[in-house]
Amino acid sequence: MKYGYFDDAQREYVITRPDTPLPWINYLGSEEYFALISNTAGGYSFYKDARLRRISRYRYNNAPFDLGGRYLYLRDNDEGHYWSPSWQPTQTELQDYSCRHGMGYTIIGSTYNGIRAETRYFVPLGENLEIWQLSITNQRNTSTDLSVFSAVEFCLWDAADDSTNFQRNFNTGQVEVEDGVIYHKTEYRERRDHFAYFACSEKLSGFDTQREAFLGPYRSWDRPIVLEQGQSTNSIAYGWQPIGSHCIRLSLKPGENKQIIFLLGYFENPKAQKFDPPGSQTINKRGVKPVIAKYLNKTDADKAFESLKSYWDQLLGVLQVQTPDEHVNRMVNIWNAYQCMVTFNMSRSASLYESGIGRGLGFRDSNQDLLGFVQMVPERARQRILDLASTQLPSGGAYHQYQPMTKRGNNDIGSNFNDDPHWLVLAVAAYIRETSDWNILDELVPYDNRPESRMPLYEHLQRSIQYTLDRMGPHGLPLIGRADWNDCLNLNCFSDTPGESFQTTTTGSGNVAESVFIAGLFVMSTLEMAQIAERYSKPGFESRSSTFYKKLANDMTTTIYQHGWDGEWFLRAYDALGQKVGSAECEEGKIYIEPQGFCVLAGVGLENGYAKKALDSANKQLATKHGIVVLQPAYSRYYLNLGEISSYPEGYKENASVFCHNNPWVMIAEVKVGNADRALDYYLRINPSAREEAAEIHRCEPYVYAQTIAGRDAPTHGEAKNSWLTGAAAWNYVTITQWILGIRPTWDGLQIAPVIPAHWPGFTASRIFRGVTYQITVKRTGPGNNVNLIVDGKAADGNIIAVPKDGRKTITVEALLK
Ligand code: BGC
Ligand code: NOJ
Repeated sequence: MKYGYFDDAQREYVITRPDTPLPWINYLGSEEYFALISNTAGGYSFYKDARLRRISRYRYNNAPFDLGGRYLYLRDNDEGHYWSPSWQPTQTELQDYSCRHGMGYTIIGSTYNGIRAETRYFVPLGENLEIWQLSITNQRNTSTDLSVFSAVEFCLWDAADDSTNFQRNFNTGQVEVEDGVIYHKTEYRERRDHFAYFACSEKLSGFDTQREAFLGPYRSWDRPIVLEQGQSTNSIAYGWQPIGSHCIRLSLKPGENKQIIFLLGYFENPKAQKFDPPGSQTINKRGVKPVIAKYLNKTDADKAFESLKSYWDQLLGVLQVQTPDEHVNRMVNIWNAYQCMVTFNMSRSASLYESGIGRGLGFRDSNQDLLGFVQMVPERARQRILDLASTQLPSGGAYHQYQPMTKRGNNDIGSNFNDDPHWLVLAVAAYIRETSDWNILDELVPYDNRPESRMPLYEHLQRSIQYTLDRMGPHGLPLIGRADWNDCLNLNCFSDTPGESFQTTTTGSGNVAESVFIAGLFVMSTLEMAQIAERYSKPGFESRSSTFYKKLANDMTTTIYQHGWDGEWFLRAYDALGQKVGSAECEEGKIYIEPQGFCVLAGVGLENGYAKKALDSANKQLATKHGIVVLQPAYSRYYLNLGEISSYPEGYKENASVFCHNNPWVMIAEVKVGNADRALDYYLRINPSAREEAAEIHRCEPYVYAQTIAGRDAPTHGEAKNSWLTGAAAWNYVTITQWILGIRPTWDGLQIAPVIPAHWPGFTASRIFRGVTYQITVKRTGPGNNVNLIVDGKAADGNIIAVPKDGRKTITVEALLK
């Protein structure tokens, strides 16, 4: 069953019924003002930090699931009926309904009783506001007398405090209403220098700012008393729950159309100029008024929308492909790239599953996200790398998370996730491959944000490796610390106290439990360092030459063969008692996905046949039609020595669901052993577009990856959860574009090395790389994946095309596969 369809030409997903299995959301904003919006206009907005500058209120985990949003109501004043053109919150049955989620905008339209209403929501580039552009058409053959009501509930800024500290918060709410603009100014009288505003392009026939006055006692958003009575009360909020609601009265002739613009925005005043006149308590609105006036103007709003469209054309234009598979095309060209940008903006902070008050930006997560967006926003990726590296600790370790407003490491969760520092090496390597900006390695970056500790970024990378060298376990494998990539494999935790954090509880010395996954990651990052050291040398780093790093990679590979191999697959770990994890000897959790994927993608086992064996084992034991599960057999009880992983029921999350983040490692590994069919097959099993047909099983949005899909041990096998903010975005993008399609940035140029199924006749692609457009045609001339390149008509050696020195801006590449 389907709930909509892809409109690839418009780069939109069109939802055709409002009652999707879960709210299907989109994101607005790409700089500092962000918003989540569901297909029924639910969601909220914030400035920079979803916790500390929450603009509008949203109720997580409510019934219905999606409550709080950008609500509009229409009221037929002749009949006394009212309805919501976005279906929620009144849930009135509509004649037709559609929601178009596009690149940074959402359009929700419907018809009810001959009244067509369509609202376009977006955030203009460079502005801290969102525009709701409502268009109403009277399709009846009689005139109609309508009222339009808007409604948004303000959040008292700190979303955590807002949802807990009621004894204070019911007393602090304050607003101002001036010229029909509703200003939310809670705490502006004291330390805040920012306020929110909600404006409308039309003359108002009334407004409300106190929730209770608008809804009426004991009522919710589905039947506000003001809608029943047809008239706003002009309430002014004193404490309780400040809201913004405008009322506009319209009379429309048959066929007549009316456009109305609403603006919800955020504004900061200089501290010394908060009030106007000075000494009063009235918000100084001199700065904000021109902004409001500008975007309440339809021409300016339309222009802003066009700029947003071009912005996305440009970002997505970096890579466009035409392959024989529409699911590949649509994810690569549109949605997967888009999701990568959303993970750049949000990390893991704000989605339907991340409340915006929990995790900040993860060190591991943000470094991996970068792999998927670096080609679209290289300068911003550079800054992200420097921000991340500034939170690195002098030991080379890292705070597991940092806060986006302060860019400071988060002490609540701390460090000692022993894989963390290596992801920085991978991110920097990816950044340099894309941009050839070697200077980034010379940037002076502090440790733990302490200015006096500034050192070149290159030194940070050295310390990332050193961190592991300083933390080796009894078998010569890296110690795991609190956890590695798998946050829930907590081998030093031993928690038997309900509610205790698995991630921050450490019992014992931590000197025994080792991770084969980190070993594989270490091989990968030391090989990257070897390649960097070959091309970049600075006095003082002679001892850490390319040879030095290659030897580390070699030695670790040998250790993995000796102590990390179980006979048919790679072991996962040794626990704190020195017992194997992920071994045939184990009662449950005999095989794990992570080391099979990551060791092979790092090159481990390619020389001795272990790679193929491990991948065949993964295929036999872990692959399901809904993707490859984390482990088998699932843990059927809680294991004190394993931690959170065994806290989940079988088939969910780290306990044997399909993690869409690590499946790509296996796909890349399959590419490395030349198994094109399997790589693409695995790719398509979790590709959201390919799963669209089974929407009633998958349930999450069919246009973006979810973190997990319930595994075969779960009663809901195939059901996705935690969509949007996941490393699945970056890794699936990297896998399909760089490894399966094989268009890969390297230090020395763009490599073309597709590993595609024999039945694919080829594909075309256009890739902008270091300012040059590569027009690529891949043609199959034989069944294999050996490449011969013809570059601008001339046969070329190898499969890497250097950036031309003669100023050519377009290069034509023919890649013949045989
Ligand atoms: C989740 C993990 C997540 C971690 C973050 C765990 O409960 O299962 O997927 O990485 O929390 O703290
Ligand atoms: C989600 C976390 O954000 C990520 O860092 C982690 O690797 C996965 N969960 C697996 O536990």
